[in-house]
Amino acid sequence: MPASKPSDTQIMPADDAAIARAVAILREGRPVALPTETVYGLAADAARADAVAAIYRTKGRPDFNPLIVHVPDMDAARRLAFFDERAEKLGQAFWPGPLTLVLPLADDASVAPAVTAGLATIALRCPAHPVMRGVLTAGGMLLAAPSANRSGGISPTTAAHVAASLGDAVPLILDGGPCTAGLESTIVALRNFGGAAAGWQLLRPGPIDPAEIAALLGEAPLPLTDHAIEAPGQLASHYAPSKPVRLGAAQAGPDEWLIGFGEVQGDDTLSAAGDLAEAAANLYAALHRADASPRLRIAVAPVPGDGMGAAINDRLRRAAA
Ligand code: TXA
Ligand code: MG
Repeated sequence: MPASKPSDTQIMPADDAAIARAVAILREGRPVALPTETVYGLAADAARADAVAAIYRTKGRPDFNPLIVHVPDMDAARRLAFFDERAEKLGQAFWPGPLTLVLPLADDASVAPAVTAGLATIALRCPAHPVMRGVLTAGGMLLAAPSANRSGGISPTTAAHVAASLGDAVPLILDGGPCTAGLESTIVALRNFGGAAAGWQLLRPGPIDPAEIAALLGEAPLPLTDHAIEAPGQLASHYAPSKPVRLGAAQAGPDEWLIGFGEVQGDDTLSAAGDLAEAAANLYAALHRADASPRLRIAVAPVPGDGMGAAINDRLRRAAA
């Protein structure tokens, strides 16, 4: 058998040797796919313009869509953005974990301009997943990382999803098993720095309940109006399978693959027990299976909107749009 070309994708179980290999590739300015607690990310050195350009190219992502920078700890985050008391509070409460904070970009932040796509703010997240943390620590670089799928497609929660979506375009995929949360991080933007230091917005619902954030900050979120376009993950059609999706389905129609929930049994289920955390963890894998099924259409059972259900329904609406 001929030796594999260097461009062929390698999937490696995420042990120490694989993490070292990932760091070596990142140091060459190339991207690596790796697990986080939310979804798999396509990571590259946030300080290097060529590495960040490679992320945009690999995903086919419009370059007006800024990236989240992943940091190992609060100290690293404070070097990139202006942290006021509110940001400190949120970081202490939810990091490491599935919360992304949008904060004013520091003047001397060492990130490539393409990371923020020209905005005066930066999105920061300190992830909890041991593999992502292992790469951050071993590499000593900050990692820009969007979800590791082609732009607009279904997000990946397994190494196989990444391979199916990005194929040969990525040199290495670290396999850390399925993601536990299964939905992208909750994105919170803090507004009005320096002045009254009040006002925040939920740019993307996710694993962290906005009610907890409101309680911590002592105020309800501001409505999303003119700021909405800042997070293209919030564009109407996103996270989309290649087939039509019908929501709120009690049973399958002709040629539909039904994704069930609770009492609605389908070809597949998000959670037979009606558990929302389980449903979130299963959502993208279920959409991937539905997309790969021989049926021409996808139907999804109703999912209640409370707690994690709000984020699940947000992704389902965009998948159906
Ligand atoms: O859970 C996650 O957040 C995953 C993992 C890999 O960490 N990452 C992720 O990245 O979902 P991505 O690129 O698929 O989504 C990032 C979102 C986009 O909707 C982008 O528009 C928004 O964050 N964003 C980034 N920087 C921003 C900024 N300065 N202001 C507003 N939105 C921003
Ligand atoms: Mg994404």
